[in-house]
Parts: sequence; structure tokens; C-alpha cells
Amino acid sequence: MKIGFVGAGGMAQALAGKWSGKHEVMLSGRTPDKTRAAAQSVGAKVGTAAEAVAFADVVVLATRSEDVFTAIGTAGGPSAFDGKVVIDINNPITIETFLTTRDDGRSLTQAIAEVLPGAHVGKAFNMAQVAVWEDRDMTYDGRQMVTLYTSDGGADGVIAQLIADVGAEPLRLGDNRHAYQLEAAAAMVIKFLFAGADPHTIFNFIRPETKPIR
Ligand SMILES: NC(=O)c1ccc[n+]([C@@H]2O[C@H](COP(=O)([O-])OP(=O)(O)OC[C@H]3O[C@@H](n4cnc5c(N)ncnc54)[C@H](OP(=O)(O)O)[C@@H]3O)[C@@H](O)[C@H]2O)c1
Repeated sequence: MKIGFVGAGGMAQALAGKWSGKHEVMLSGRTPDKTRAAAQSVGAKVGTAAEAVAFADVVVLATRSEDVFTAIGTAGGPSAFDGKVVIDINNPITIETFLTTRDDGRSLTQAIAEVLPGAHVGKAFNMAQVAVWEDRDMTYDGRQMVTLYTSDGGADGVIAQLIADVGAEPLRLGDNRHAYQLEAAAAMVIKFLFAGADPHTIFNFIRPETKPIR
């Protein structure tokens, strides 16, 4: 697959590093020097946001959540995303309250899907901290990390494959009506991270241990 990132920060680098051996990857950010260095460090191509989206079969929106809609505009606007799978990894959370900033009960993912009617949108990778995604081997005590995702329409198979390609097991929670649950769960994760918890210990799902039934 051809994967284009809008954003070239911590999450973009962690995911691109996992995918660049198996797929063609392009990073784009706001600051050219920083973006070039980030792309080089993970074996990815570098481009503008518009180039990354034009290049891609799959676009990962990896700016801060408050920059997502500006970045969609910079990348060429909604029509540039037509026919592509778009993965929303963003957490619209404020660290003032550790609550989501979406107060209408609907998710950022649904708002993105409304703005990009020609794309196949889903949410994934938002619930674990960047240090977890950087782990080469995503098994913990011999049990594989399970990654929840939501998706609409044509995004299911592609997102599941890309989760498998980072070394985790995909588990579809449902369509994007469920994305607000992933965002709220991430608010809990972020609250505990800010309280000093180890990122590997907070609300990460792992494949269940199978015990004999007595
Ligand atoms: N960090 C985590 O542990 C983690 C875990 C799960 C999910 N998330 C979510 O993932 C998203 C990214 O997090 P991050 O930690 O990777 O953020 P980050 O390190 O701050 O990176 C953000 C990137 O977006 C770029 N950017 C900002 N506005 C842009 C625009 N209009 N067009 C193109 N690029 C733009 C920035 O470029 P410049 O640096 O040049 O400004 C930077 O490369 C956030 O929404 C976050 O909630 C983060």
C-alpha cells in the first residue's frame, strides 16, 4: 500500500517506522527540516501535505487534533481524499480536565467523515502512547497487543491489515458511531499518563490467556 501521513511528529514516526519495510510511506509536516529528518529516520519519503495525500491509498491524519481540519484544507481540501482510506488517530482531549473536547456526544472521527464524504474513514491507534507503538515486538508476557478500531464502509480490511502490520491484533469495535468510546477511553489513558503511570500499563488490551474451564 501507499501510506501518506499528514503530520510528522511522534506518532507518525512510530507508525511509519513499522510500516516502511512493508509499504511505501510518505511523511508531511509543517516544518521542512524537521519533516525531512523525521522521514529519513524511518525510511520514508517526504513531501507536502498535498503531495502525501495525492501519493496515498491510505492517509493517516497525524497532526494534533485541533489542527486536523486546517491540515485537510492544506492537503487540498475534501476532494483530495476521495476514494482513499483515512485513519484518524487523534485524541480530542484537553489536559485541563482530561475529558474529550467533543461535547455533542459524537466523535472527531464522525466529524472528519462528514467533511470527507468521498473517503472511507476509521479510527485506530489512538489508545496507546507513542512509546508503546515504538515497541518492536508487541507481545507482552507472551500475549499479543489487541488494538481496537472503528470503521465505516471500505476501510475495515485495510485498517485491520495495518494494525497487524505494526505487530498487534485488530479488533473492530464497530462503525464510527463507536469512535467516541475510543476517544473517551484515551482520555482515561492520558489522565493516568499525566499522573506518571507507565504507558505500557494503562488500559492496553492483550490477547486473553486461555484457561481450562473447570
Ligand atoms: N503522542 C502520543 O502518545 C499519541 C498516542 C495516540 C494518539 N495520539 C494522537 O496522535 C496525534 C499526533 O500526536 P503526536 O504526538 O504525533 O503529535 P506531534 O508530535 O505534536 O506531531 C504533530 C505533527 O503535525 C504537524 N502539523 C501540524 N499542523 C499541520 C498541518 N496543518 N499540516 C501538516 N502537518 C501539520 C506538525 O508539524 P510541525 O512540527 O512542523 O509543527 C507535527 O509534525 C494527536 O492528535 C494525538 O492526540 C498521540
